[in-house]
This record gives sequence, C-alpha cells and structure tokens, in this order.
Amino acid sequence: MTTEFVKITDPSAPEAQKVLECAADIIKKGGLVVFPTETVYGLGGCGTDENAAKKIYAAKGRPADNPLILHIADPREAEDYCYTSPLYYELAKAFMPGPLTVIMKKKDSVPASVTAGLDTVAVRCPEHPVANALIRAVGAPIAAPSANLSGKPSPTRADYVLEDMNGRVDMIIDGGESEIGLESTIVMINGETVTLLRPGAVTCDALSLVAEKVKIAPAVLEMLAENEKPLSPGMKYKHYAPDSPLVLLDGEEADVLEYLRGEIKEKKCAVLCYDEEIEALKGATLLPVGKKDDLSAQAHGLFTLLRDADKTGCDVIYAHLPPKTGLGLALYNRMIRAAAHTIKKV
Ligand code: TXA
Ligand code: MG
Repeated sequence: MTTEFVKITDPSAPEAQKVLECAADIIKKGGLVVFPTETVYGLGGCGTDENAAKKIYAAKGRPADNPLILHIADPREAEDYCYTSPLYYELAKAFMPGPLTVIMKKKDSVPASVTAGLDTVAVRCPEHPVANALIRAVGAPIAAPSANLSGKPSPTRADYVLEDMNGRVDMIIDGGESEIGLESTIVMINGETVTLLRPGAVTCDALSLVAEKVKIAPAVLEMLAENEKPLSPGMKYKHYAPDSPLVLLDGEEADVLEYLRGEIKEKKCAVLCYDEEIEALKGATLLPVGKKDDLSAQAHGLFTLLRDADKTGCDVIYAHLPPKTGLGLALYNRMIRAAAHTIKKV
C-alpha cells in the first residue's frame, strides 16, 4: 500500500478542507488515516465499522484483545455509543475537549472488534482542531489507538509515524508536534467512583475537584503479578521500552549525581538529565529532559528522548525516578514501564 503524506497547518484553510474531505472519504470507505491530536498521533478507522478495527490491529501489530478508543467531536455524541451518567457530563464539562478518555458500558452500536469483546467502551473528545475537523467530516466516531507499532513509543511527531507506519496506512496527516506528548488520562466510571487506569495531563488532583471518589488502579504504580488481570487490557503489555536497558534512579539529587559520575567512568551511559545537571555530567551522552520542576516540558519530550536514547548505542540509559504527584504520576507510570520496573535506590 502507498501511504499519502500530507501536512495541515491551518485546518480552516481551503486546501486543508480538501485534504480533510479526502481523509474522511478514506475512513468512510474502510481505510486508515493517521491524524494529530494534542496528546499523541492516532491511527484512525471508522468507529462503527467492524472491519476497520481489525485493519487497525493488523497495521499496528497489536493483539486483538487490546481495545480501541472512540474519538468523538462533541462530548454529547457519547450518548449514541455508551450509557452515560451525570458524572460523565461533569467530567466532560471540566475536561472535554481535552486529554481525558472515559470508559463506560457500551451500547450495541459499537462493534465488538473495537472493544475487543468487552462490554465497555472508551470515549475521548480530542481538542486538536485537525482531529476535531476530521471526526466531523467523517460524521461518525473514529476508532484509534496511538499510531506507533505495538511496543514502540507513542508518536509525537509525523516523522516518527512515518518510521512506523509507512506502507501500512492510506494516509498520514502531519499536524505538527503533539503539544502534550503523553497519551490521555484514562478513567472508568462505576457509579459515583472514578477509577484512574492511565495517568495523563488530567491529573488526579484535577479529577478530585470534580468526582468525590477517585481511585488509582494498582497497575498504574506497580507491576502486576502474572495471574492478575488489569482493568485495562493495555496495562499488561510492555510498552515503549528502549533496546538498551533503562534504569531509574531513586534518591537525593546529590547522591544520584555522584552515582552517575561513577558510572560514566566505567560504562557507555546515556543520561536523561535535568537541564541543571548538564555541567555536572560532562562526559556522558546527555539527553536533557528540561528543568527539574518543569514536568510539562519533561512530558512533552519524553517519547522523543526515549527514541533518541536508543540511537546513541549506549550500554545503559539512566533517568531520574519521577515524582508520583501531579503530572509526575503520568511520567512515573510511563517510565517504570519503559524501564521494566528497574528502579535503583542510590
Ligand atoms: O491520547 C490518547 O489516548 C491516544 C490518542 C490517539 O487519542 N490514544 C491512545 O490509544 O493512547 P491506545 O490504544 O494506545 O491506548 C488506549 C488504552 C489501551 O491501553 C487500552 O487497553 C485501553 O485504553 N482501553 C480502551 N478501551 C478500554 C476499555 N473498554 N476498558 C479498559 N481499557 C480500555
Ligand atoms: Mg498506545
């Protein structure tokens, strides 16, 4: 299959409208289009087409037991696909459009292939204008996972999408770099309780302002035992792991620096360091993540740095263990998985 690659800078421009119509046509006819969102790029197919979901799994090399998110243009569209509740609308009012995905009981209008046979469905209303315009042009929800090959970091730039998806999809729309850089926060609604399944830019603190009961699913923070079944199928798969081992260092900053200086003398190390540490760590391959307190910058750049770290050919990659508070929890969750839970206390 040849993959058409197109750029959109302003979705309201007439040329962009033509591209979007063409992309929507592809999706309506059962094809696949990669599109930008504010979190990461999505690999989209028609959300009401049983076969499109199957094509998505094949293009990604994704196990068919890992369900897809339905992307909608307006939070009220969820009504057609799942059993909503007042709590859903409160969450929608606070965080949609935006980086929040909500899981609720599904209606029959959603094909079983989209939800991997589960009786629930995930819905998200992205804020990115290109994503929103594309969903509107299709006139149906777009089923989409992140547009990476299974096991690779989620793509935050169109050239990363091209690396993974060239020849596997009909079209890739380049809409610039993803603003947030980490995938959406995923929550499940059960009665009055909101359970966090995947942390993202909508933080626990923010959710707690809207919902009275916010629980964190165990798989967010810890490795599950072999026989444990996670609430979200995606949690059982290893994610975004670089080829070289990634080790997370847990300790006072001064101790971490001292440990790193020792390691740099003995091994070929790449270090995801804070900007403030660049001077102190001369001699190592440095991949600065941003200022220590700038968690948004760290989130924005994480997946690029993990891809870059792999290209350095180092024997080991070191990084700080992120804090578990605020946006730090999303970084923590992605990094412990990329590190296969290898945390070294120093
Ligand atoms: O930011 C995002 O969420 C991006 C953009 C493209 O919207 N999408 C994304 O999709 O990250 P994906 O498929 O890579 O991750 C979705 C996660 C998977 O781990 C999947 O297991 C989980 O959501 N999921 C989807 N439907 C579910 C359901 N009904 N119950 C539990 N987990 C579900
Ligand atoms: Mg993904």
